[in-house]
Amino acid sequence: MTINELSASISQLKHSTDTAVLAHSYQSRPILESADITGDSYALAKRAAELPQQNVLMCGVRFMAETVKILAPKKRVFLANTLAGCPMAEQVEPEMLAHLKKTEPDRTIVAYINTTAELKRQCDVCVTSSSAVKIVRSLPNDKLLFLPDCNLGDYVKKQVPSKDIKLIQGGCPVHAAVSVKEALAAKEAHPNAKLLVHPECLPGVVALADYVGSTKGISDYAAASADREFIIGTEISIAEHLSYDCPDKTFHVLSKKILCPNMKLTTLPDLYRALSEIDGGISDREITLTDTIISEARRCIDAMLAYGG
Ligand code: 13P
Ligand code: SF4
Repeated sequence: MTINELSASISQLKHSTDTAVLAHSYQSRPILESADITGDSYALAKRAAELPQQNVLMCGVRFMAETVKILAPKKRVFLANTLAGCPMAEQVEPEMLAHLKKTEPDRTIVAYINTTAELKRQCDVCVTSSSAVKIVRSLPNDKLLFLPDCNLGDYVKKQVPSKDIKLIQGGCPVHAAVSVKEALAAKEAHPNAKLLVHPECLPGVVALADYVGSTKGISDYAAASADREFIIGTEISIAEHLSYDCPDKTFHVLSKKILCPNMKLTTLPDLYRALSEIDGGISDREITLTDTIISEARRCIDAMLAYGG
């Protein structure tokens, strides 16, 4: 099958199985082109509940599919490649958080959305990289525990110095792989380029940035900016997408190390196979969560949506 034939079959299967395809911005271009909704973690979570389709197929990582299932429990939700997990989401064990909550009972627990459904049950409010500063600023309690990403947490702390925010050691191994030395070298190699960085990067790298924001924030900033040249400090696919979307501008990757192997596991044939399985009525890609997990984990996601991101 050629790529065009594959895309045509995907489109037909989406329709015949009443399935919406959601794709995170770190997915490859052919997958983004086959998707009904694309965007950063916040956009995917927010739009999931409004979808008319009965089935949802997530091209991204497991916590994103779980978030859709929690927000739309009556829908059947599938993960296109079941091996695609996010190592950061698994970093905090529920038992460890239960212990932390006992030792710090007066702190509001703020969880990055990159966490498992099981962990979300114990959290008060979720945030994404695009909503973290705004939500933390709006919270009535000044004492917070932010987990699991201490780099995003450090960025939020600096933006909201009035809050007492406790961090734990954790974060995205992909974004945190870029050193300050590498960032300085990239700036030296491209002296006219603006450096746009995701807050999952190390604080020293974030400090060098001209703009700090989520995947969508970085893409929107680059598209709207009057500048012509950029160093993109997030997953390397974003620099590639921007090169297509803004052909009159130049995009350099901050480091080839910012390649998320989990996000890259999903391929167009996975999408086709997953839809064929949905069509056949049998799929081991379905996300199943108990009613208790769904209702308890939902509280912190609803709180995020109520704060409006
Ligand atoms: P955003 O989608 O919030 O930009 O986060 C990036 C990321 O690493 C997703 O896993
Ligand atoms: Fe997880 Fe980092 Fe990959 Fe995002 S980029 S899915 S946070 S490992």
